[in-house]
Amino acid sequence: MLSAVIQDALNNQVTIEAQSSQVYLSMASWAETQGFEGVSQFMYAQSDEERMHMLKLVKFINERGGHAKVSSLKAPPLEFGSFKEMFQELFNHEVAVSGYINDLVDISLKEKDYATHNFLQWYVSEQIEEEAQARNILDKINLIGDDKSGFYLFDNDIKQLIGADSK
Ligand code: FEO
Repeated sequence: MLSAVIQDALNNQVTIEAQSSQVYLSMASWAETQGFEGVSQFMYAQSDEERMHMLKLVKFINERGGHAKVSSLKAPPLEFGSFKEMFQELFNHEVAVSGYINDLVDISLKEKDYATHNFLQWYVSEQIEEEAQARNILDKINLIGDDKSGFYLFDNDIKQLIGADSK
């Protein structure tokens, strides 16, 4: 059985993952309107992954006798300036999510909830991969600079990353 403290903290994470999915969906849509097919496919897939992260939490909360709550979300930005800015935002977002996961791990230890602590280890590993992936993409974008043909190749190459870190 989940304590009220753990249940609230996990439900907060449900909202964070759902919000992440919305932000990446908006990035996918924006990239699609810019004609970048590969980047938009990548972002649609990222959005699906975040929904999967959310669903995993929902199932866990309910399996442990709690009640996973679906709450309202903030509207994400609609425009992202440039690809560099968009991927910088993705990276910053993932770093922030890692911080929330670390806080959750901390709470699970304080509450002596070892089942939740064990469950959260999957998210700890996932965040390491997501941060590394976002950092690699940013490095590539910095290398490309303003080279238009570089962006064309990048848009094609990024398709190879789709699903690379999903389990
Ligand atoms: Fe589910 Fe990318 O954090």
